[in-house]
Amino acid sequence: MNAQTPATGKATQETLVSVHRWTDKLLTFRTTRPADYRFTPGQFARLGLMVDGEMVWRAYSITSAEAENALEYYAIVVPGGLFTSALIRLQPGDPVWVEKLSYGFMTADRFADGEDFWMLATGTGLGPYVSILQQREVWHQFRNLVLVHCVRHAEELSYQEKFESLRAQAQAAGFPARLQLIVMTTRDDDAAGSDHLHGRITAALLDGSLERKAGLAITAEASRLMVCGNPDMITEVRDILRERGLGPCRRAGGGQFITEDYW
Ligand SMILES: Cc1cc2nc3c(=O)[nH]c(=O)nc-3n(C[C@H](O)[C@H](O)[C@H](O)COP(=O)(O)OP(=O)(O)OC[C@H]3O[C@@H](n4cnc5c(N)ncnc54)[C@H](O)[C@@H]3O)c2cc1C
Ligand SMILES: NC(=O)c1ccc[n+]([C@@H]2O[C@H](COP(=O)([O-])OP(=O)(O)OC[C@H]3O[C@@H](n4cnc5c(N)ncnc54)[C@H](OP(=O)(O)O)[C@@H]3O)[C@@H](O)[C@H]2O)c1
Repeated sequence: MNAQTPATGKATQETLVSVHRWTDKLLTFRTTRPADYRFTPGQFARLGLMVDGEMVWRAYSITSAEAENALEYYAIVVPGGLFTSALIRLQPGDPVWVEKLSYGFMTADRFADGEDFWMLATGTGLGPYVSILQQREVWHQFRNLVLVHCVRHAEELSYQEKFESLRAQAQAAGFPARLQLIVMTTRDDDAAGSDHLHGRITAALLDGSLERKAGLAITAEASRLMVCGNPDMITEVRDILRERGLGPCRRAGGGQFITEDYW
């Protein structure tokens, strides 16, 4: 049974349900879902772990679908990181605290219009898109869904089968949008010959190779973008998009892109 956390009262004690290890540093984990917990795909949860007698809180994008019974997250284990050094040792049945509120503005309902939805991620910045692509509405809201995942090495390209299966389900259901998956690696020498783009998202935006690969131009009229992950990447992408006449989404409306820094 879920218990109130004595530490804050803002969280409930949940239970680790399962852990899937993609590599020695990358994992997907699931927790029980707090009663009455609400989130919009693209949002993040604040999770707590007890580390040496103290509660440590960190933000994690929710990767599960809105209606699932469990909550899922995708994480990298940071060398020497306080939270993730404890996370990697957890076993199913162990406690994880989940704040009752979910947070974040990286939700597709903030785009009032646009035809092409670009989802750009480095590393674990992929997380929000796993949830968003399980949201039926986005398959009706846009004509093209372009998911771009850039990692150091090909072995870090997680969730590929999930995306393929979502694409197949959407096609079978007759949803209008088309999903393209564009994967990029930056540190593999043998990328030549694979269908990966080699290099950073920023370079591929600047030299036009990303748009050529997608067969779509990024314009203020047609494109709506989310950018998530490495903060330096986000700063650089924001500058590139601004140069091209696109602007951040504002609460009052307007704008073409939304960003979320992970650190
Ligand atoms: C809004 C938001 C959402 C987030 N969602 C996720 C998520 O879904 N998955 C996830 O793994 N992390 C996510 N993070 C980062 C996460 O909250 C922690 O920072 C991370 O788990 C490391 O915690 P730590 O205590 O082990 O190390 P920390 O002391 O917090 O981090 C140490 C250093 O590790 C590096 N680092 C931290 N997080 C990452 C990362 N995700 N990828 C690469 N390098 C990183 C940075 O250089 C950072 O300065 C998110 C952060 C924010 C602000
Ligand atoms: N063990 C070590 O020596 C060491 C060293 C550094 C980091 N780390 C740890 O390893 C983890 C790295 O996680 P990660 O690989 O998922 O995240 P990351 O370092 O953000 O790299 C993910 C992808 O983002 C790209 N990228 C980085 N900065 C960018 C920028 N300014 N513009 C555009 N693209 C950019 C990277 O390209 P590039 O490959 O070109 O950078 C890479 O393809 C962190 O936990 C970190 O603490 C370990």
